[in-house]
Amino acid sequence: MISGGKYPSTRLRRTRRNIFSRNLVRETVLTVEDLVYPIFVVDGKKKLIPVDSMPGIHRISLDNLDGVANECLKFGIPAIALFPYIDEKLKTDDGRESFNDQGLIARAVRLLKINYPELGVITDAALDPYTTHGQDGLVDADGHILNDETVVVLEKQAICCANAGADVIAPSDMMDGRISKIRNALESSNLKNTLILSYASKFASSFYGPFRSAVGSSMNLGTKGKATYQLDFSNINEALREVEMDIEEGADIVMVKPGMPYLDVVRAITDNYLIPTFVYQVSGEYAMLKGAFKNQWLPEKETIIESLTCFKRAGASAILTYFALDAAKALTSSNSAT
Ligand code: PBG
Repeated sequence: MISGGKYPSTRLRRTRRNIFSRNLVRETVLTVEDLVYPIFVVDGKKKLIPVDSMPGIHRISLDNLDGVANECLKFGIPAIALFPYIDEKLKTDDGRESFNDQGLIARAVRLLKINYPELGVITDAALDPYTTHGQDGLVDADGHILNDETVVVLEKQAICCANAGADVIAPSDMMDGRISKIRNALESSNLKNTLILSYASKFASSFYGPFRSAVGSSMNLGTKGKATYQLDFSNINEALREVEMDIEEGADIVMVKPGMPYLDVVRAITDNYLIPTFVYQVSGEYAMLKGAFKNQWLPEKETIIESLTCFKRAGASAILTYFALDAAKALTSSNSAT
């Protein structure tokens, strides 16, 4: 399959010589249609609260969502992913605010689906923004994360979001068996067309720090990690087993997270399974790149487009990225292909 060739009959620089031929032989093309924009929402009026560790990213109150929704639609970004920052007073040990029909996410989804029906809306299934302990699941007296008990709450959260109109439920919690339980709950609630985007291959990572500040879970989590449910970053076989199980349980799409250090996992999934695979360029990757742009250590537009294109080259069909709007602007203004 590998077609090498011998110098000088083969000179690989020939096709690189001109823009026209570089354009014609390009194997991977990034488009705005590959992008999903994660958005943090907060209660209150006229709020646009900067997230310190994520320059350019804000927590947005629902009355201010029009701006971003319109921008996404204008550029042709197909979908957004919503994450809540909720009042500490609403947090409990059992995270029950996560399935409140009148809760922040349910209201956000209803508003968006009424005003922007064509914009896909993805909501997370995980408890960390809602719990006093900042874990994605319920915790027993010894500090262990309870699996099956958590899944019962995730089912309720998924049904609550799907009833509000969410197009896609994205379980990011890494409990065992949650995809089949959520799938069954959706089927029996007559929500047969709701997609499940499983964070199937989600690693216990230091790259989530800025996100945890953005959703207000980092103080609560403290120094406790998520290693008893998220994957060990040393393991790829285990990541593939997670993917396989989630496919069998009824996931429509699987995701790898974080992104850049895990391109081998994306490639292995897309080589082995026919399911669409997304990748999440997470908050820490965003923060890292933003820091370098600010110091002019890296060129902004070019680095964004390169980082995103390489996810596609690894096999991803879409990318969740805080750079979605920047990338869309770069792509539409574009000579970026040169
Ligand atoms: C919640 C969740 C996390 C992210 C998405 N959903 C954080 C975590 O698992 O601690 C991280 C996203 C990012 O870092 O941008 N379960």
